Amino acid sequence: MLKLAERMSRAKPSAIMLVADKAKKLKAAGRDIISFSIGVPNFLPGAHVYAAAREALEHDSGQYGSNRGPDALLDAFLKHLKEGGFDGYERKHLAVGIGAKQVLFNLMYALLNEGDEILIPTPYWTSYVDIADILGAKITLLPCPAEQNYKLTPAQLEAAIKPTTRLLLFNNPSNPTGMVYTPDEVKALADVLVRHPLWVLSDDIYNRMIFDGLPYAHLVKARPELRDRVVLIDSISKTYGMPGWRGGLIAGPESVAQAMVTLNSNHITNLPEVVAAAATAAFDGPQDIPREKCADFSRRRDEVMSALSAIPGVRCPRPQGAFYAFPDISVAFGKKHGTSAIANDVDFCNVLLDAKGVACVPGSAFGEPLAIRISYTCKPAELTEGLKRLQGFFAELK
Ligand SMILES: Cc1ncc(COP(=O)(O)O)c(C=O)c1O
Repeated sequence: MLKLAERMSRAKPSAIMLVADKAKKLKAAGRDIISFSIGVPNFLPGAHVYAAAREALEHDSGQYGSNRGPDALLDAFLKHLKEGGFDGYERKHLAVGIGAKQVLFNLMYALLNEGDEILIPTPYWTSYVDIADILGAKITLLPCPAEQNYKLTPAQLEAAIKPTTRLLLFNNPSNPTGMVYTPDEVKALADVLVRHPLWVLSDDIYNRMIFDGLPYAHLVKARPELRDRVVLIDSISKTYGMPGWRGGLIAGPESVAQAMVTLNSNHITNLPEVVAAAATAAFDGPQDIPREKCADFSRRRDEVMSALSAIPGVRCPRPQGAFYAFPDISVAFGKKHGTSAIANDVDFCNVLLDAKGVACVPGSAFGEPLAIRISYTCKPAELTEGLKRLQGFFAELK
């Protein structure tokens, strides 16, 4: 039997997808399942997005498109950046990809040699580690436990950076924790980064989902001199309710954008015309749907926090963005539900799913085995019922 490439021995299927698939199968088999598992926004984009997609179909060029991305999309993204206070970017600093995930893969492919060291604050979004593993990078995890609100501190960053460190992954607002860094926190991290020559991938895909009127702080705005090594990553998936459309973008140094273009020219070639037109309309058009959804998610966050705070021993730093909560549920370890023992987060999620039909993702998928991730974008009635079941589950532990 011929063998696969060595790097495939390091490739793992996404742990989040595994839980989501299990929940889907149980539902298909007739079980009453509430899924808090997958990070989909669960709303649809505005009518103007569909109109732009239809219009693109009407005028299908039948041709390949630009490897960088069509000018209209690049310009719409530039406008979005400018509105967010990111000045000085031009088309030559941008490139598209098939969602932020493929963009991240391309960026790590372009910036890391095998064995290069990469810093990943933990809890992390699972694919950071999975992609870095496939590429043979040397991963250093920087544990940021609940006691420090799941946030990286400047002292921690300073201590972790070695002369050999090539890259930091920074995600704000965070999946899986929903934490948002304050301007002072971002500035303090930026002050560390200016002293050390490493790349930074700034995963900003939840940048329009920040609650409580908090400002959106960014490393590049805090210290503009970082612009020549910080890459901004954005996506239409979460902000515009378009996860299946697959559109992602970067803004960064010209050399990095050019590397993306070269990689694109050798695999995806271009975004499909209809997707590019829809993404352009999303960035360019009215922003009332993302605004309304953000307000809606902040109300759901309140409901989740109030339910969790009523469970003795469960601690959850208050999320201020995205649509996740990441409670520490380790109080359940060493206990039983009925005859099922719970030794860790994976047991917890399995027993909870079997007993109550509620699907959550074990924290170990994000590098923090004391917690679980709750994605709270399901229907409002399901959220209320799922939280009630979670409370009931804890009450029944012995
Ligand atoms: C932090 C983070 N980055 C990137 C992605 C990938 O997004 P996309 O759908 O654009 O590939 C996700 C998706 O869940 C995410 O949560």
